[in-house]
Amino acid sequence: MDLTERPRRLRANEGLRSMVMETRVSKNALVYPLFIREGQGIVEDIPSLDGQKRCTPDKLPFLLEEPVSAGVRSILLFGLPDHKDETGSSAWDENGPVQRAVREAKRAFPELTVITDVCLCEYTSHGHCGVIKDGIVQNDETLPLLAKTALSHVRSGADIVAPSDMMDGRVGAIRSALDSEGFEQRAIMSYAVKYASAFYGPFRDAAGSAPAFGDRKGYQMDPHNAKEALREARLDTEEGADILIVKPALPYLDILYRVASDSLLPVAAYSVSGEYAMLRAAAKAGLLDEPRVVSEATISIFRAGARILITYYAPQLARWIDEGRLDR
Ligand code: PBG
Repeated sequence: MDLTERPRRLRANEGLRSMVMETRVSKNALVYPLFIREGQGIVEDIPSLDGQKRCTPDKLPFLLEEPVSAGVRSILLFGLPDHKDETGSSAWDENGPVQRAVREAKRAFPELTVITDVCLCEYTSHGHCGVIKDGIVQNDETLPLLAKTALSHVRSGADIVAPSDMMDGRVGAIRSALDSEGFEQRAIMSYAVKYASAFYGPFRDAAGSAPAFGDRKGYQMDPHNAKEALREARLDTEEGADILIVKPALPYLDILYRVASDSLLPVAAYSVSGEYAMLRAAAKAGLLDEPRVVSEATISIFRAGARILITYYAPQLARWIDEGRLDR
């Protein structure tokens, strides 16, 4: 008997292959990130993210029509304020771009799950994720500002807040702020495992959030470390996180696998701007088949253990799922 022939029996035809498939990608698991700027009546291209658009809050329902009709059910909002200062005070403005956008999205699509990014880097004049003193980010002083920001998002109707600042203790601070105002039912999706990555480059252009001095290595993780990811994930879990994010995705599939295996919480992967830009540029240059290569990358992220995927390709993926491309 030739044992090497055995696995092949289940590949004999499409029906068999599909029956035993270990990973299936569902539209429900996709989250689409969007950038909201201040102002009125504007929809514009994002030069660093080919194919992606930035809009003002009033235009969000219009921008969402296509993705929602393709079957995207969750969005993640980032804000681009006009006013930046030392403490990032626009971040908790009840009429800030994110707060207004949440209300618009919920009004137009009540069924949509709206997630908001909670961070200060887009709102501070220095571009760091927290308050600065003597050139150093002040962890503990930043916590109440993040909690205030999260609270203002939830008051506007956000279902989930996603703190991406990487300050220690912010999940706990946000949880108690939400609970104290009666928002026990709103969830926290924590960027628990966020590496200091060069793959965020196009995002920082899109959001105008590059640090004016230094880098984020003091608070984001070192790409050399893997066990540290488990520590971060456990800490955020103890503080009350409901979902953990691992970010970036493709260069960190080993981390994703380990965190997903170690944790009882659902794990989301964030396939970041640089991953999108890379695949997009290669496809545009005619070097790669875009739907096939993006589908394969997406499947690999879910195979590694992600339950949720945050991706700029969400609308296209939803369409490709309808066309049956992800099952092949
Ligand atoms: C804000 C934030 C960043 C990203 C998500 N939230 C940028 C950063 O940490 O510099 C990156 C997302 C992407 O690259 O798509 N802290």
